[in-house]
Amino acid sequence: MKLQITIATSEQEFDRIAAWRIIGELLNNPKSVIGLSTGQTTQNMHAIVSDIYKLYPFDVSSVTLFGVDEVTNVSREYDGACYTMLRKQLIDTLGIRPENFIMPPTLSDDFEKECRLFQDELEKIGGVDLQILGVGTNGHLGFNQPGTPFESETWLSEMDEVLEARIRKETHTPSGKKLRGLTLGIKNIMHARKILLVAKGSSKAEIVKKMLEGTVTANVPASVLQLHLNCEFLLDSEAASLLTGNI
Ligand code: GLP
Repeated sequence: MKLQITIATSEQEFDRIAAWRIIGELLNNPKSVIGLSTGQTTQNMHAIVSDIYKLYPFDVSSVTLFGVDEVTNVSREYDGACYTMLRKQLIDTLGIRPENFIMPPTLSDDFEKECRLFQDELEKIGGVDLQILGVGTNGHLGFNQPGTPFESETWLSEMDEVLEARIRKETHTPSGKKLRGLTLGIKNIMHARKILLVAKGSSKAEIVKKMLEGTVTANVPASVLQLHLNCEFLLDSEAASLLTGNI
């Protein structure tokens, strides 16, 4: 099966295409359920969706938005918590009601229960119409690090060391306290009806090559997307620079 790959010629074009995939989904299906991702890659596209919405408001009252993952054991109000990032970048501008923004909590005595609740809530509303995903330089999807089984369901994962160290420093979390990532599992991600994987910049070129032209393996979680029947890979020319076309 041929993979659906879109290569934008500039970062601006990349951000615009990604933003319009989200707006298109919102306009086509006013009851859509859309999974968002945080990070450098998605920031501008959220800003463009917000700008377009401010200029030309449309009905988003029945849309449900959620984040694919969340940091745990930090305050939800911390600027690096996915909840706060998404609220600031998109949710508040669109005026999404709290009941239509599904996020697991960052603090809990029972994260296994929170994982189940998060997953159940998404299933109850009929599953995911569009899932936006970034990819880590090690191939992680959400917080599913290399080695995560493809049949994994919503769970509490280790974070990559660099991100964990950054969050620990920013939140002044003592070294004894674990920071983890609550994330949809690979199986849940693969159940989305449509997926948009976004990767930009030269730092992503190597992993993009492995994801698209390498073997499908749990060592590169994002490679599983080669098996999804409705996944678009949106890249900029830098992220696509190592592709040979031998897929
Ligand atoms: C983080 C998030 C992922 C995100 C990824 C890519 O670890 N948990 O959901 O997709 O990093 O981030 P960036 O776009 O900053 O490279």
